[in-house]
Amino acid sequence: MLAATVSTPAANLRQNFEKFLEGETTGLACCVSMSDSFTGQGTTRKALCRGEGNAHLSPGVHQNLGYTGLAFAPDCRRTVGILVSRIVDVRQLRVKQFQLLLQAESRAWLEDLHWDYAPSSGLVSSYLEEKRLSGFALVENDVAQAYCLYFREGSKGLIGTLFALQSNSRSSAPVNLLGKAIDTLVDFADVRRIEAQLPHFSLDQVGPYFRSRAFQTYLRQFMSFRLGISAPNRQTPAFQAGRPGQNETSGDFVFQPWERRHDREAARLIYHVYQNHIDAAVNDQYCSIAGTTHLVESIARLRGCGEYLPQASIAAIHCSTGKLAGILGLTAVRPRTAHIPQIAVATGFQGIGLGSAMLRTAFEKLVGAGFSEVSLTVTALNSGAARLYERTGFRTFREFGAFVWNRA
Ligand SMILES: CC(C)(COP(=O)(O)OP(=O)(O)OC[C@H]1O[C@@H](n2cnc3c(N)ncnc32)[C@H](O)[C@@H]1OP(=O)(O)O)[C@@H](O)C(=O)NCCC(=O)NCCS
Repeated sequence: MLAATVSTPAANLRQNFEKFLEGETTGLACCVSMSDSFTGQGTTRKALCRGEGNAHLSPGVHQNLGYTGLAFAPDCRRTVGILVSRIVDVRQLRVKQFQLLLQAESRAWLEDLHWDYAPSSGLVSSYLEEKRLSGFALVENDVAQAYCLYFREGSKGLIGTLFALQSNSRSSAPVNLLGKAIDTLVDFADVRRIEAQLPHFSLDQVGPYFRSRAFQTYLRQFMSFRLGISAPNRQTPAFQAGRPGQNETSGDFVFQPWERRHDREAARLIYHVYQNHIDAAVNDQYCSIAGTTHLVESIARLRGCGEYLPQASIAAIHCSTGKLAGILGLTAVRPRTAHIPQIAVATGFQGIGLGSAMLRTAFEKLVGAGFSEVSLTVTALNSGAARLYERTGFRTFREFGAFVWNRA
């Protein structure tokens, strides 16, 4: 009864099947499932047949066969497709099986997040090839439809990637993959904390699942500013003497390009500024000097957030003390789009216009370098910073969730 030819693309099959379940389609087919077709656990077989009005559910068969899903109607005349879906360790797959998924992921980064993901995708691809990544993939008809990667950094687990082809993004597949990754991480007794930020999913989509697993959830905003559109210019006394430029003195501060020699002090500044800050709850790298040192490294040296732009990035020095008073990091994430992976002003200098002045200066430098857009992310609960960005002209174009679990 299950012997069938594969003739229907997986996406159509799923769509047909979902329509059938919702009662939108009559005379169409049924499904055989070895486990629950929508939990995606284990091997699931779904057969779809067109029976010209004859297809129907037959609970008797269902019980006899011991299937947990719907049963195959015995009077179905013609089977038009069979779909085999399973969740597997990513190391069991060949990189070729990820091609479609990785291409779709790069497109989503470009279209939804204004970010050229191709270099990262290339890395993921070669690491998958070398079996260096941990995670799970949903495979249908031998092609990866969704995947979730996880990493371990000491006592911290990280959900690095969760992405699904559009046909699967609203199914339970992403949550099933997440569940497997989280279960695996939780099973390591030395993993005390798990963090995840999932820019391809809204908080509504995955938040309930994370909450059911005792994760704290946080709303994050992707914001962008179209350069060339003049932003409201509210300058405070410290900046009225002139417009700060590269190595120009303006009021009490001089702006220099943020270079390697500033990194140690920048890491210390970030550590102090983020104490008791909401972002330190979201990302525990902010909670230690080692963590902020790594953060600075990853922005400025490791291309963790795109290509670093040292000449446009700013180290603001307080003239009379020579201390680092603020920093603003800039990267290029696609040819004409820049990103601000970090902006921080030392506690004693906050609220006097330094952050706004650094933003204005950065905009000028970016326009000069041919950029037309600059983006950043902010935690919604960091409302002061979000207000500053809105006032500067940034607009939210995407919202997503950040999730944190701490072992009790
Ligand atoms: C956000 C930040 C860079 C702004 O720099 P700043 O020099 O304080 O900003 P300005 O003086 O130019 O503008 C002040 C605005 O910043 C916002 N702000 C955020 N946190 C602030 C703080 N601790 N003190 C004062 N203002 C703060 C307020 O919206 C304020 O606007 P308001 O006058 O409407 O209240 C700085 O406050 C900071 O380093 N905060 C902690 C780190 C952080 O949150 N970084 C951003 C992560 S997305």
